[in-house]
Amino acid sequence: MAKSTFQNKPTTCVCLANTFLFLSLLLFLLLLLWNLSSFYNPIPIIHSPFTKSKSEPKLEPDGVVGSPNCAAHELCDPPEKSFYDNPGLSYSIEKPMKNWDEKRSDWLKQHLSFATGARDRILVVTGSQPLPCENPIGDHLLLRLFKNKVDYCRIHGYDIFYNNAYLHPKMDAYWAKFPVIRATMLAHPEVEWIWWIDSDAVFTDMKFRVPLDRYKDHNLVVYGWPNLVYEDKANKSGTSLNAGVFMIRNCQWSMDLVNDWAEMGPNSPNYKKWGQIQLSTFKDKTYPHSDDQSALIYLLFKHKDKWGNKTYIENEYYFQGYWVEIVKTYDNITEGYKEVEILGPTLRRRHAEKLSEYYAKLREPYLEDAGFKRRRPFVTHFTGCQQCNGIHNTMYVGDTCWIEMQRALNFADNQVLRNYGFVHPDLMNSSFVSPLPFDYPA
Ligand SMILES: *[C@@H]1O[C@H](CO)[C@@H](O)[C@H](O)[C@H]1NC(C)=O
Ligand SMILES: *[C@@H]1O[C@H](CO)[C@@H](O)[C@H](O)[C@H]1NC(C)=O
Ligand SMILES: *[C@@H]1O[C@H](CO)[C@@H](O)[C@H](O)[C@H]1NC(C)=O
Ligand SMILES: *[C@@H]1O[C@H](CO)[C@@H](O)[C@H](O)[C@H]1NC(C)=O
Repeated sequence: MAKSTFQNKPTTCVCLANTFLFLSLLLFLLLLLWNLSSFYNPIPIIHSPFTKSKSEPKLEPDGVVGSPNCAAHELCDPPEKSFYDNPGLSYSIEKPMKNWDEKRSDWLKQHLSFATGARDRILVVTGSQPLPCENPIGDHLLLRLFKNKVDYCRIHGYDIFYNNAYLHPKMDAYWAKFPVIRATMLAHPEVEWIWWIDSDAVFTDMKFRVPLDRYKDHNLVVYGWPNLVYEDKANKSGTSLNAGVFMIRNCQWSMDLVNDWAEMGPNSPNYKKWGQIQLSTFKDKTYPHSDDQSALIYLLFKHKDKWGNKTYIENEYYFQGYWVEIVKTYDNITEGYKEVEILGPTLRRRHAEKLSEYYAKLREPYLEDAGFKRRRPFVTHFTGCQQCNGIHNTMYVGDTCWIEMQRALNFADNQVLRNYGFVHPDLMNSSFVSPLPFDYPA
């Protein structure tokens, strides 16, 4: 090939060939020399993302020293100071946080690799008590409930934090989440939303993704009925919303809300007083202790401008739904999904788990016609079941709670197992799985 290229200029060609030969020889000798010399260099320089050849400037006590910033794609912590370097920083719920929006945004500017996509980033937070359950199958149920959340997060690419330590000695039971949420906001400046989900809530539509666009002007998302929360003043109900599942934006507004919310909890000197106020406000409240759900409803309607304005009360889908009215619909819904998949045959196509969201989008137009009640309920919440310690459940007959919880978990697990080629053909028998029939709904 070289021959034909240089055919027209033979002299130059020869000349070039000689030069080339000479250069090659020189290069070879140089390489040999370099190779030999590297035997005397005992520590080879390895260029990895974690060892930088550029000099690392020291962090001076009086502030920032000029430094090469981390590149946009790079996982590193630049030496410039952030809120983490403030010795006064406290993760405790007892220390109010100021200027959080500014601090978080400064941190994001210093960590450009996390700034991209920060607006939609979600961290799921859940947990349970530090000690073993009294209910003999309680810990087994907790494990399955956690597995369900891990599955959901893996499918959607969310991080998850499971906490089982009381971060404040006085805040236990339904108050335990507040110190956790407060600390999580500081630990995760890269996430926009903290999604608290009680341990007894089950994701029962594994493919559904929350419509974040809908909440872009709000900082708190809860399930409930706005008219019951804000109107009907003479006859308030403590169940007009549910405080066991909510999404809260990682911002100063939320820091303030958590502060005011926890002010009605057991850590507050006014705890007893708030219990009395709640008891007289909510006609259906049966116990004298202040609870987090009544507390939120109270804050929303008493200070509607301050808190209600940024709170989205969702009830177009089961952001969380009461299990008693939901579990009986699973069979009918499974049939409904099979019908939908007959309408759109590509929906039945086997696919990698990572493509779950893609197939969910394809299915969406078919489901829209089916409406809210015929869709898989997004979250089935086993409110009142107390799977961990409620051995003798007074609220529900016999083992109803545990039986229905297993049914919900298998219903959800089937949506996961499908991607692995298996199914629980009998929702009431967790240990029985069989290879997937081809026409099973995704
Ligand atoms: C208050 O609401 C409950 C249902 O939430 C209802 O049963 C009761 O009749 C109502 N009472 C008044 C006085 O409206
Ligand atoms: C909150 O209140 C402001 C002014 O009162 C209003 O302009 C805004 O639309 C409200 N936002 C929401 C989400 O309701
Ligand atoms: C499910 O229930 C709805 C009404 O609640 C009914 O119209 C529908 O036919 C049922 N579907 C199946 C598959 O049973
Ligand atoms: C559940 O399935 C397992 C495994 O197939 C079987 O051994 C067991 O008898 C089943 N239990 C019930 C209650 O049907």
